[in-house]
Amino acid sequence: MEDRGIELARWFDDRLGVARISKTALNKIFPDHWSFLLGEIAMYSFAIIIITGIFLTLFFVPSTKEVIYNGSYVPLRGQRVSEAYQSTVDISLNVRAGLVMRQMHHWAADIFAAAIVVHLCRIFFTGAFRRPRELNYMIGLTMLILVIVNGFIGYSLPDDQISGAGLRIAFSIFLSIPIIGTWGAFLLWGGNFPGNGDIIPRFYSLHILILPAVIAGLLAAHLGIMWHQKHTDFPGKDKSNRKVVGSSFWPTYTAKTTGYFFIIFGGLALLGGLFQINPIWLYGSYEPYKVSYAVQPDWYMGWLDGALRIMPAWETQFASRYLISAPFSRPGSGRRTRPWSITSSTGPAIDPFAPGSGSGSCPST
Ligand code: HEM
Repeated sequence: MEDRGIELARWFDDRLGVARISKTALNKIFPDHWSFLLGEIAMYSFAIIIITGIFLTLFFVPSTKEVIYNGSYVPLRGQRVSEAYQSTVDISLNVRAGLVMRQMHHWAADIFAAAIVVHLCRIFFTGAFRRPRELNYMIGLTMLILVIVNGFIGYSLPDDQISGAGLRIAFSIFLSIPIIGTWGAFLLWGGNFPGNGDIIPRFYSLHILILPAVIAGLLAAHLGIMWHQKHTDFPGKDKSNRKVVGSSFWPTYTAKTTGYFFIIFGGLALLGGLFQINPIWLYGSYEPYKVSYAVQPDWYMGWLDGALRIMPAWETQFASRYLISAPFSRPGSGRRTRPWSITSSTGPAIDPFAPGSGSGSCPST
């Protein structure tokens, strides 16, 4: 049996020269410092996202077609819900191990993004982005952005009340892109918000296929470049930019990293099994006319959500609305009598009192 194995290895070696390549690979040195494992948390979270995501695809229905809910969750019975929402409630409450898989998928997305950010901090604060590693730094940043985008898209798929509110914000953000914004938003949503229902199937293709494939390609390039350029390391005896001190890939590092994978898998399984995340059956299916003030995105969208909340409720626009409508506004009918409203009609307007502009709006006097 052993001879057969050696024969087979020789057969491959004669044709592909694998022995030399494998020997170099197996002897590659990895630094021992704990901070080098941060990127691995990200990589293994991605692996777990793919495993749990494949499970979810077996049951999830990416459709906004309306059906009457008649499943096992009594408070929802008789309500009109989308197929996407119904299938996610079914995954959570009826499919065996469905809830733990869904929650692991969601937790893994949160940990994935967090691990990339902490890994990025290590790279940033140790100066590991410097020449010749600028390209790999940019690849890492691109992956972070794609993970955030894919996390948001995944969050939108169940079509519940909260994810629908997030989609509405995304639609408005799209609209605000100069020149192409309106075209882009209408194209993606298939019309004005909430669109013709194509958004969920479109997001589905992006979420499970296109973006994960791009992320996987970038990850392969990231690791390939890192392998070629070698790790950076903290200063120390016998170390240099070309010489890394640590453990070889085989057997020490392989044993360490495999154990590490199982620790991360176990940690995420515990989170998914014990800590509730996104209980969509409590929120209901998305109805555009219902709005909840308590809508919160996942943490990695906080920078955008925070930016929207910090921004004063100013309506910025060019003259058209005021300039054209000024002669037709009745004197004494409220806002037109305010001097700042009139001033704003002469140029780009910043009008904190425009109706419907959020917290800055005030009742008409
Ligand atoms: C960067 C990679 C990914 C991220 C960050 C991510 C994140 C998410 C998030 C946050 C959700 C919402 C989960 C919830 O309902 O609470 C979700 C849903 C979903 N994801 Fe992913 N995901 C990724 C990749 C994948 C892949 C590769 C697949 C399949 C092969 C997949 C399949 C699904 C499915 C079917 C749903 C809808 C069902 C559900 O919401 O439970 N995902 N994803």
